[in-house]
Order: sequence, then structure tokens, then C-alpha cells
Amino acid sequence: MLKPLSILFVTSEVIPFVKVGGIADVSYSFPLAVRDMGHDIRVMIPKYGCISERKNRIHDINRLRDITIAVGKLSDVATVKSSSMNNPRTKVQAYITTNNKYFDSKKGIYENMNTGETYPDNDERFAFFCRSVIETCLILNWFPDVIHCNDWQTAMIPAYAKLLFPEQFKNTRFVFTIHNLNDQGEFPASSFDKTGLPASIKNDFIHKKNMNFVKGALKYSDYVTTVSPSYAKEITSDEKYTNGLSEILSKMKNFKGILNGIDPWYWNPRKDKLLKNKYDKDFWSYKEANKSFVLKKFNLEVKEGTPLIAMITRLDKQKGIDLVIESLETLMKEDVQFVLLGEGKPEYKQKLTNLAKSYKEKFAVSFGFNEELAHRIEAGADIYLLPSEHEPCGLNALYSLAYGAIPVVRETGGLKDIVTDIDEEKLTGNGFTFKNYKSVDLLKAIGRAIRLYQNKENWEGITVRNMEQDYSWKPRISEYDDIYRLITK
Ligand code: GLC
Repeated sequence: MLKPLSILFVTSEVIPFVKVGGIADVSYSFPLAVRDMGHDIRVMIPKYGCISERKNRIHDINRLRDITIAVGKLSDVATVKSSSMNNPRTKVQAYITTNNKYFDSKKGIYENMNTGETYPDNDERFAFFCRSVIETCLILNWFPDVIHCNDWQTAMIPAYAKLLFPEQFKNTRFVFTIHNLNDQGEFPASSFDKTGLPASIKNDFIHKKNMNFVKGALKYSDYVTTVSPSYAKEITSDEKYTNGLSEILSKMKNFKGILNGIDPWYWNPRKDKLLKNKYDKDFWSYKEANKSFVLKKFNLEVKEGTPLIAMITRLDKQKGIDLVIESLETLMKEDVQFVLLGEGKPEYKQKLTNLAKSYKEKFAVSFGFNEELAHRIEAGADIYLLPSEHEPCGLNALYSLAYGAIPVVRETGGLKDIVTDIDEEKLTGNGFTFKNYKSVDLLKAIGRAIRLYQNKENWEGITVRNMEQDYSWKPRISEYDDIYRLITK
């Protein structure tokens, strides 16, 4: 038997502490799955103002109080605290960086929640966080076999370790996972001077004349992964969504796309604590009970035989929200109801609010992040929309399959790997897909779903078959294990 590895998984958001995106779900489910394999994995995140110490049982660690963290010429004090996250089988320790200036005084993760503006000092905030990870290892005298970083907010860690503390971290290897290349941590070039890294390597972090955190992580990591095989193919071959990083990615030998998995308790309609009506053999009674809850919540009439379409999303161009807005008038001519839960750009909120006013009986929206409602919507929906322009993974496609809602998705990124188009004759496939980013194509795919819904027996056959598949990390976690083993050999 191989010796278990020590791994530090660093991330900017994680369930149950804080979540605005899918990365928080993965940062929860993945370490638990790795722990299940026997590795000593711990998680590290910053403590934003919205995280309650009391509710999350965050407590002090004597040795990690009042650590001076120098970010370039700036220096401030951090106290690293401890908590844990668990599912009914497994528990993982979490280190939490607290600091007033960069984190506690700000409620949002990346942006001011009231104005929607990204914080102007995000470069300093996350460089500070990255340094706190390094300092924690130094003080604990714990140099994990692997430090696994996620997205730009953690991207300075490999460079800090390798360039500033090469001796201490000589046996540590670095994995960097790309969850979304939309945000690469781009700042004015002068931002590099604040990082405290030697000026001689500045170009490793400069891309198109800007500071680019992700570019540096690609350079200093030992292995880079992304969250689906198809997205991996897209970002190595198409500059469209990579802001010019495709060339670097396509030349990398240590790069792989591995589809995300989900936690088998947290997102499981048979066990989900957030669901009043759990799934227990009878599909329709489970679905109808959850559906009527959702409809009431959104002030829509409970109507038998009318399919409920749902979407839970960041209100962002990438998610295909323009396509939905464009298609709504035509869609509303069908016998459907549609609920949307989302948060994001004010202009989208305005447009959606107006549409909800025009189609009061059929279309309703709710704004904000609401984890409980998200679970209940997945359980109550018949059809789930993911018409993304591009999508690295698309966890909601997995959730809708697991919760018995048929996904309608555009064939892009992870959605391509998760959803196979249904053949209405042979009853193969698990959802409806369309190729072109056009509202006629989206409407056609939704139309096919509405028609299939008229045949209760076929609908139940497909959804129940979908619900019986394993969407957890189990089938794929060994791919990460292989990577960890390969780089630590
Ligand atoms: C990002 C991606 C999304 C993915 C998630 C988790 O939010 O946009 O596609 O599912 O990260 O990896």
C-alpha cells in the first residue's frame, strides 16, 4: 500500500462557510472525497465579513495568532483560525485566515454586495491570503506533499513557495485547478510590484501588458487541471474564452480536464437535509410535493400537468442569460411555468423584473443567493435550463439529473460531457442539447422537452434512470490521485 499523502487545498470559497459560485461546492465535495481515499487533506480559505465565527465554530489556534504577513512593501497582521467541514461519513479540517483590513471589514468575497463593484484592492487581498498560506505552513512546520490551488485567488502560492522559500518547500508539489478562465486576476502591471516577488520574474506574471495571476500559476505549478475534458479541449484550442492563454495551455504536458463530481449527501434527493419532501421510490409524489412548494414560493399557481422550467444562475453573459431573455416572449406562448433564481448584473435584474411583470401568471424571479431554495428548485423543477455561451463544468446539470429535472443545455464545455441528447424513439440520452447560441435553437430544445413531458411514462422512465446514476467523485477521484502520485514520485 502506498503511503497516504498530505494535501493542502486552498480556495476562495467553500460550503458551508461561504458560496457564490460552483467552486464552493467543489471545494467542499472534493476534499471530502480525497479524505475518503485516506489522504490527510486540509482546506484553507479567507474569512470574509459575511462568515460568522460562532455559527461556523471557528476557533483560535495558539501558534497561529498575530502573524505578520508582508505583501511586498505592505505588511499587516493575520490570525489563522480553525474549523472543519464534514458530511455524515467524513471530516476535513479547515484553516481560516482572518484579517480586518482585507477580509473582515468587507462582507463580499470578490465584490461589494450592495453596489456590485469588485473591490479595488482584490490583488492585495488575495496576495495577502496566498502569503498567509505560506506563513501557516512555515509556522506549523508542515510542508504538505501537495498544495492544491484553485483559480486566480490562490495563484500566487506556487511562486511564493518556490521562489521565496525553496528550501522549505522543496518536497512540495503544486496543482492548480482552473474553474473558469473568465476571471484571470488581471490588474495593472504595477500590481506585480506589490506581490513581493523578485522583479526578475515579472514577465512570468505579465500578459498583454497586465498583471495576470493565472499566467503565473500556469508557470509555477507542477500540474494544471480543469473541470471537464471538453472545456480542457476548448481552452487549449480556442482563444475566444482564454484571453490569449490558449497558447501556453496547449503546450503544457501536465494538463488535464477531469469532470467534477458532487457530494453524495449534500446533493442527494434521498438524503438532502434542505428538502422537506425527499425522494423515496415514488417519483411523482416527490416531484409534485417539491414543485408545489416552489410554485407557492414564487407566487405562481399550482397547475397540474404544466411543466415547471427552472434556472439557477449567476446573471452573467456567460450563462446564456441574454438568450433566455430573448426567448422568453415566445416561450410564454407555451403551457409552461418558469422560475429563475439568480444574482448578478443590475441590468439583467431590471430586464427580468420587467418580464416577470408582463407574464405574472407564468414567469417569476427571485434575486440573491439562496442555497436552500436552490436545492428545492432542483427537486421541484421538471425542466432545467443551462443555455450557457460557455461553461467549464456546469454543476447544476449534474444536480438536475440527480434531482429528476431534465436538463436543456447548450453543447459547450462540461455540459457536453454531462448531457447526452435524448432520442425520443429509443428513449436513450439524459437531456436535451442544442448547438448554436441562438434563441430559435434553445426554443426548439425546450419544445422537445415540453412534448416529451406529455408522455408521463416516458418522462418518468428517463428521469428515474437519470436519478439512479452515480454523479459523485467516486468514478473519477482516482484521476486526481494519479496526478498527486505522479508529481510526488
Ligand atoms: C465555475 C464554472 C462552472 C463550474 C464551477 C465548479 O463556477 O463557471 O462551470 O461548474 O466553477 O468547478
